[in-house]
Amino acid sequence: MTYPERVLRVAHMKRSKCTTLAIHHRPGSFSDRWIEYCTENSIRYDLVNCYDSDIIQHLRSCAAFLWHWNHYDCRARLFARQLTYSLEAAGKLVFPNSRTCWHFDDKVGQKYLLEAIGAPLVPSYVFYDEEEAMEWAGATDYPKVFKLRGGAGSSNVLLVRTRSEAARLIRKAFGAGFSPINRRASLRDSISAFHHCRTHHTARGLIGALFRCVIPGDIERRMGRERGYVYFQDFIPGNKHDTRVVVIGNRAFAFQREVRRNDFRASGSGSTILDRKKIDTEFIRLAYEVSRRLNLQSTAYDFIRDESRGPHLIEMSYAFPANGQVAKCPGHWDGNLKWHDGKMWPQDAILEDMLAQIAVRSAEGI
Ligand SMILES: Nc1ncnc2c1ncn2[C@@H]1O[C@H](COP(=O)(O)OP(=O)(O)O)[C@@H](O)[C@H]1O
Ligand SMILES: [Mg+2]
Repeated sequence: MTYPERVLRVAHMKRSKCTTLAIHHRPGSFSDRWIEYCTENSIRYDLVNCYDSDIIQHLRSCAAFLWHWNHYDCRARLFARQLTYSLEAAGKLVFPNSRTCWHFDDKVGQKYLLEAIGAPLVPSYVFYDEEEAMEWAGATDYPKVFKLRGGAGSSNVLLVRTRSEAARLIRKAFGAGFSPINRRASLRDSISAFHHCRTHHTARGLIGALFRCVIPGDIERRMGRERGYVYFQDFIPGNKHDTRVVVIGNRAFAFQREVRRNDFRASGSGSTILDRKKIDTEFIRLAYEVSRRLNLQSTAYDFIRDESRGPHLIEMSYAFPANGQVAKCPGHWDGNLKWHDGKMWPQDAILEDMLAQIAVRSAEGI
């Protein structure tokens, strides 16, 4: 959207009576910037607490509701999707909407979805029966990649080199199960982050991770164990980085994430490259294709290439760090893959798309 269009849209929002946005504020999430944007642009908004039992009543007069909930928000995971669906049934606009969030933090759900639309997902295998999984593990080739369905920052992603390693994981998956929080992996990442850059922030992270190694956190206790299924992917070797593409409406932001040293995993490495010339625009095209096909509001896609340069999608996610790399990208590609200079908060892009939808609805008298 050009600058005058943005100004006009915001001006329209100020005039319209039906502008009430409801925001659930979680400090450190997208809501910090949403509130700032509304204040800067004199847009009316209400702060609501979506944990209130009468939240539906509170939201009765609002046009749209925004809530950035994330992976490790145990309370949100109990009902965020249900609340979203219910508000949509009442005709409200919601961010994230059901289409955008039902597969969030669920790699198994994404496997079915991406296969169903013919997206180039890394060949993936899921089993709900130990014997079947063992049979497959005995016949397949290695290495493979083992993953839990949830998690972030590569914490629940492992390279499986041999049949016996796969068998051990399968037995555990159908036995004691796995903790959704990998304490050892987060300690390793915290040590490496501290080595890389010694700040109060990384020191606090390291102390927290050391503490968590001894005493499991509340999140881990509440989330329960992952068991009763096992999920593998073909291992795509030779990638020094993955490419994250974030599509929000008609804007695609992209950057590369370098893999950790002596490792194959990029997510959570903390080392990113923001040079737009290095971005493979085929990934941008594919990301737009999936977003359009599924009609998604805002989604981050992670891509790699195989040895014959074929593109592979690893996973998709509506939520990403509020102060992460997207806002640092020097510009974005529009839906025609035309580059536009200029940094932008992803939170602004999400909110502006929402405001545009409200404006269309109010013009149509909805
Ligand atoms: N099948 C695969 N083959 C090769 N590398 C992979 C594969 N799957 C994931 N990776 C690498 O591991 C990282 C973490 O995997 P991902 O599934 O995105 O987990 P997370 O949800 O923790 O980010 C990716 O960023 C990528 O670098
Ligand atoms: Mg990832």
